[in-house]
Amino acid sequence: MKLCMIGTGYVGLVSGVCFSDMGNNVICVDKDERKINNLKKGIVPIYEPGLDELVKKNLKNKRLSFSSDLNKSIKKSDIIFICVGTPTKKNSSAADLTYVFNVAKSISRKIKKFKIIITKSTVPVTTGDEIEKIISKNLSKKLFEVVSNPEFLREGEAIRDFMYPDRIVVGTKSNKARNKIKNLYSPLISKGSKYIETSRRSAELIKYAANAFLATKITFINEISNLCEKIDVDVEDVSIGIGSDKRVGERFLRAGPAYGGSCFPKDTKAIVSTSDKFKTNLSVIKSVIKSNENRNSLLLSKIYSILKNKIKNKKITFLGVTFKANTDDMRDSSSLKLIPALSNKGAIINYYDPTGYKRIFSKYKNVTYSSSINEAINKSDLIIIHTEWNDFKSIDFKKYSKSKKLIIYDLRNLYSRSKINNMGIKYYGIGR
Ligand code: UDX
Repeated sequence: MKLCMIGTGYVGLVSGVCFSDMGNNVICVDKDERKINNLKKGIVPIYEPGLDELVKKNLKNKRLSFSSDLNKSIKKSDIIFICVGTPTKKNSSAADLTYVFNVAKSISRKIKKFKIIITKSTVPVTTGDEIEKIISKNLSKKLFEVVSNPEFLREGEAIRDFMYPDRIVVGTKSNKARNKIKNLYSPLISKGSKYIETSRRSAELIKYAANAFLATKITFINEISNLCEKIDVDVEDVSIGIGSDKRVGERFLRAGPAYGGSCFPKDTKAIVSTSDKFKTNLSVIKSVIKSNENRNSLLLSKIYSILKNKIKNKKITFLGVTFKANTDDMRDSSSLKLIPALSNKGAIINYYDPTGYKRIFSKYKNVTYSSSINEAINKSDLIIIHTEWNDFKSIDFKKYSKSKKLIIYDLRNLYSRSKINNMGIKYYGIGR
């Protein structure tokens, strides 16, 4: 099939490349010409394991192309995916749909024959209805169908999550659209993915409810970990003990720092904003947002007590600063709260991250990037393991403990307390 992906961020680029790898002809469109010119040369602007290779492979076999010409790209395509950003509005918790509605307007002026228009961006419930209204101002309803087909891609695992989805959700009442989209996804359905056809609004809500539930699950285990620390219980045992119940499920029960990223913080706020608009109180999700926002100050007070409130001139090393492993994304990362607060208290901070230097920290005093784990650890009093990169899972801390009393604060519980203590190093974990 001939597809047009509008927006080449995580969603549009990964989905477009994967659709092309499934045998479709895909044009990825973006108004950022510099980005498009780089993509034409196979230069990928986002850190996503495996994406470079897939882009190059499908550019070579001519199934994938990049363009800034929306008009021409729409003309050549049967299905148009809206994959533009829906960030949180300034001073509000609602999603900003400006880009989505602008794309809908420009599409409506370019369509000459029947097209399926799919929102893959995460959009609040009823957005599909709005898009339909905007397009029908310039176009007869016979010439288009607006469908919701949300993505469930995790950064760092996006290609795997696209190619082996637990489920594909398609929201439309139109049989014509349903048949075409089911055909598009048939290679994934035949590999065993569940295929769910529902109304457009349900599909829109499923996306938000999924992310809000995952954020709730993480916040739940994070709060249980706070209790575990008070009663000498290991939260990892609790995660296994409850997760083995199929009704609970083992995944997303790893206690850690506050959740971050480009989705959970944004989507939990957006679903609450939708519920406020429809006069329903999503009190559980509201408390999840609050609990997660408080988590960073809770971790900070723990760091202060580990250092016996003597922060000034203390050398603190952060291993990892992105919001999680296998991504270079810093959005809503815990480190954006922890590092500035410690720097303001006079700490001398080194950080190492496998994805390299982060300009965002350049404005803080005494925060420097070390280009290796060894260099970062060498001078430190306290090592904070912030993300769960494989690079951090088998560090020989012993060789650093000869020169001085070392302390490790393991925010991802990568190590066992007893092993580290046997090296003569003080160990603090999360929920243990
Ligand atoms: C999430 C959803 O998983 C994905 O389905 C949706 O499409 C986009 O949002 P992403 O934000 O990329 O994906 O990352 P994810 O792996 O879900 O982690 C989100 C946050 O939760 C991170 O801060 C991560 O560190 C944290 N997390 C995740 C935990 O603290 N514990 C866990 O067990 C899992």
